[in-house]
Amino acid sequence: EPPQIVVLGSLNMDLVLRVPHAPAAGETLIGHSIANIPGGKGANQAVSCAREGAQVRMIGCVGDDAHGRALRESLERDGIDTAALRTVEGEPTGTALILVEDSGQNRIVIIPGANARVEIDEAAMLGQLQGAAFLVTQFETPMDQIARAISVAHEAGCKVLLNPSPVQAIAEPLWSRIDTLVVNEIEAETLCGQSADSPQDAARAGRALRAKGIARVVVTLGSRGAVAVDADGARHHPAPKVQAVDTTAAGDTFLGALAVALGERQSFDEAVRLGIRAAALCIQQPGAQPSIPQRDAVLQSPLPPDWITL
Ligand code: RIB
Ligand code: NA
Repeated sequence: EPPQIVVLGSLNMDLVLRVPHAPAAGETLIGHSIANIPGGKGANQAVSCAREGAQVRMIGCVGDDAHGRALRESLERDGIDTAALRTVEGEPTGTALILVEDSGQNRIVIIPGANARVEIDEAAMLGQLQGAAFLVTQFETPMDQIARAISVAHEAGCKVLLNPSPVQAIAEPLWSRIDTLVVNEIEAETLCGQSADSPQDAARAGRALRAKGIARVVVTLGSRGAVAVDADGARHHPAPKVQAVDTTAAGDTFLGALAVALGERQSFDEAVRLGIRAAALCIQQPGAQPSIPQRDAVLQSPLPPDWITL
């Protein structure tokens, strides 16, 4: 039985401009290419869960336009249940303007559009969570609705995996309702007020975040891998060395693989390792959803170095 995962979150059409470097203020620059690519943190995480073999249900909103239809179809091609994906009138589908430099670094501006119209109906949500191993969510939809969904999941005994991105404060009552928190170093620093830019610092930040009532914390460190913190302590998981083409959706890919492996009852460290291998494949391909690998490809990819206890 594959694990069932419910994802509440954003869907964006990514308008991707490839550029030699990001323009400075007042600079005009000739870019290389332009493309519309399905993205949005919620949708990307749903796709990652589906490609890792989970049964996925997506809760979110798109506009009544061509981008909205394309995003819905993109999820359906991955076998994701879109019955709870609402088409709203009067708002455009979410858009992300993404500049990708030759170095693979990106800069992103999001216009939420329909994502801002997500509303959680508690009774409907209870039904949607039936049998689910995890509720997965991020911060690209309205905070009050995210809080409501987290509370419904917690009361229903469904574990919550939160990726607080783009980062903002987490209200005090929510902390203890989160099972697993996945943050990058900037998010970790913002949420706990301490530096997280080395594995040792990330471990310290992860411990501070755990102390707020969370069972497991992962601090992702880009090319340096990730630090996993739970009741047994902290481990640094190095990443394999790869050439980055486009890091867009690397965090989303990691999160999906982690969620599915945890849903399969793999150990926390095995789940983090799977996430790191999946993210390493993602960054070698351009775009968000097209770059998210299938489980088979992840299992065939090189093993990263062993993890180190901190
Ligand atoms: O995490 C990557 C995603 O962030 C992009 O696909 C973009 O849509 C933004 O939401
Ligand atoms: Na990518």
